[in-house]
Amino acid sequence: NTGQRQRLIAAHTAAAEFYAEQLGTRDAMPAREFLAARGFGPDAARQFGCGFAPAGWDALTKHLRGRGFTNEELVTGGISKAARSGSLIDRFRGRLVWPIRDLGGEVIGFGARRLLDGDDGPKYLNTPESPIYKKSHVLYGVANAKKDIAKQQRAVVVEGYTDVMACHLAGVVTAVATCGTAFGADHIQVLRRLLMDQDEFRGEVIFTFDGDAAGQKAAVRAFEDDQRFVAQTFIAVSPQNMDPCELRLAHGDSAVRDLVARREPLVAFVLRTLLAKYDLDTVEGRVAALRAAAPLVARIKDRALRPEYARKLAGDLGMDLEPVLKAVNEAA
Ligand code: GTP
Ligand code: MN
Ligand code: MN
Ligand code: MN
Ligand code: MN
Repeated sequence: NTGQRQRLIAAHTAAAEFYAEQLGTRDAMPAREFLAARGFGPDAARQFGCGFAPAGWDALTKHLRGRGFTNEELVTGGISKAARSGSLIDRFRGRLVWPIRDLGGEVIGFGARRLLDGDDGPKYLNTPESPIYKKSHVLYGVANAKKDIAKQQRAVVVEGYTDVMACHLAGVVTAVATCGTAFGADHIQVLRRLLMDQDEFRGEVIFTFDGDAAGQKAAVRAFEDDQRFVAQTFIAVSPQNMDPCELRLAHGDSAVRDLVARREPLVAFVLRTLLAKYDLDTVEGRVAALRAAAPLVARIKDRALRPEYARKLAGDLGMDLEPVLKAVNEAA
């Protein structure tokens, strides 16, 4: 209900203010150092509302209780949790925090990175599922990016909070990231709505991921499920397998912009990755590669795109178009 929603948003807004204030304290030195080491000064921290969750047990919980929020509200929103003793403690302790906003710009949750021993959990923690925080829909940075996503008809999907910050500062203002989950069908729907142009989805979704390729695989899977988007999906892989944050640190803003500019269509990326596994200098290698690639091309439902990729595959394999088309049709 809207009353509860408003209360939970008010609690998160107050929590974000508290965290941001804490970032200026002596105890927050490791958080400021973390940001500085990634190329983010005080201005960038302010722009993205970065904050610091103190290492003590219940500083925020007490602060919000003093502001009139109930135990139930703090637990339901995921800001606090019950300790074994039964008393409430802060969910995030000794961490750098990023406020996560919904499409309308309201703070609905937090991402929190480990810095101190105050919290011995995983490297990153997120707000748990709540009445206002649905992780399958949440995209970090979407409130900032949505106007430009619609205007440029392009959304850039990156892996993490620091990558969104780096992209925005480098001028790639359409960058968003999932928060501790794989990119999935609900995220597609969120972007699709922003990219709608006269009842049709026309824009580009560009995935940039770092070296481990887990993210790339997730993107490929998500978009294989929904063939309508294949022609609009692109992959941007940095040559050194750096994420956008590392790329900006090493090579500056222009390198981040170049990464996006050098994007590759999803199908081309998948085919190139596949063909790289075969020795195309031998007849055996080329035939094996064709056998592996044909089902991929056969899966392209777009009637204009499929023959184009059959032609490209023939070119890559140094084969005539006819046997390639035959293999693709047989694989369909
Ligand atoms: P650091 O530079 O070491 O902070 O890492 P990063 O910012 O490059 O992040 P990394 O590439 O390791 O992860 C990218 C994103 O994946 C993060 O922003 C988180 O949203 C998420 N992530 C990474 N590690 C974890 C984890 O341990 N738990 C959860 N839930 N999410 C994680
Ligand atoms: Mn990664
Ligand atoms: Mn990493
Ligand atoms: Mn990374
Ligand atoms: Mn990193």
